[in-house]
Formats: sequence, structure tokens, C-alpha cells
Amino acid sequence: MLAEEIIDHILIDAETVQRRVAELGQAISADYQGKDLVLICSLKGGVAFLTDLMRQISVPHEIDFMAISSYGVGQRESTGAVRLIMDLEANIQGRDVLIVEDIVDSGRTMNYLLRTLWARQPASLRVCTLLNKPSRRALDVPLDYIGFDIPDEFVLGYGLDLDEKYRNLPYLAVAKEQKQ
Ligand code: IMP
Ligand code: MG
Repeated sequence: MLAEEIIDHILIDAETVQRRVAELGQAISADYQGKDLVLICSLKGGVAFLTDLMRQISVPHEIDFMAISSYGVGQRESTGAVRLIMDLEANIQGRDVLIVEDIVDSGRTMNYLLRTLWARQPASLRVCTLLNKPSRRALDVPLDYIGFDIPDEFVLGYGLDLDEKYRNLPYLAVAKEQKQ
């Protein structure tokens, strides 16, 4: 289906997204001066955010990728059973790691990522998420940089998918109610 057919309304337009990403990049650049920064992008949802964010970060850094999956019960819910699909290439021991994520919803994925990465003994480990749905949190996770707090609505675009599609949209939109 065309994006227009499944979108209810635009939540955050492309210009607002880009402005916020630039602010986050500036804050990260200030905080990581002289550090050995590695950005770890959680696939696939974090990709659009990572590629824009890294171009707004002025300090030298590496990027790496990790793929996590939560077993789905439906298109819009995760069950909580999280599993590692693809691991990092980099050794992060003693390094300053920043996780770059699209959205923190229940917090289960982020909790898994943090536990997995802390076990590898980085010098520091922090989280930068574009979106945060605080009302949905089941597990408390520390978030260091947040793009936008959003209400409990299913969003797509800018990396976020509905059934693997619409990640390419340059804005964030609320999907229409699911037909039962
Ligand atoms: P959590 O483990 O419940 O925090 O959810 C993590 C994953 O669920 C995210 O990385 C997304 O892939 C997906 N997710 C949660 N909310 C949304 C949404 O509103 N739109 C698209 N994907 C979502
Ligand atoms: Mg997803």
C-alpha cells in the first residue's frame, strides 16, 4: 500500500527531525571530546537516524552494527523474548560506546542490549534514542539522549517500519488504527 493509505497523520515533520538530530549531534560532540567513541546502531530501525546523526557529530568516531529481534506476536507488538541476530565487528572493551536506537518502547530490547554490551567491559556505555514512549515502559532503562518523547501510538517512517516497509519516509507518521 502507498504510504498515504496507511498514514493517519504526520507526527514529526522532516525539518523538525533534522533540526533535533543536529542538536543531538552537537551535544554528543561536546560530551565525547577526546574520547574513543563507537556508535552502535541497532538494525534495522536505527539506520536512518545513525546516518544523519553521524554527519552531525564533529568528533572522530567509529560506527558498528548489531541486529536484535524480538519475537513478534503481531505487526505492532513484541513479546519480550529478545535474541541476537548479528553481532558487532568491533571489540568494545575499554571504549566509549553510544547505542543509537530508533525507539524505546517497552524497554526490553534496550535492556537486552545494555546487558549484552556491559558484559564486554566498555569504558562507558550510553544510549541515544530518537524516540521514547515512556507510557509503555515495562523495564526501566537509562536513556542519555532522547530526540522526542511521543505518546502511545504506532509510528512509522525515518527507519521505523510497519511490517518491514515505510522505513524510507523522511518524517515520522502515526499509522491508521489496525483493522481487526
Ligand atoms: P521494545 O523492546 O518494546 O522497547 O521495542 C523495541 C522495538 O519495537 C523497536 O526497536 C522497534 O523495532 C519496535 N517498535 C516499538 N514501537 C514501535 C512503533 O511505534 N513503530 C515501529 N516500531 C516500533
Ligand atoms: Mg521493528
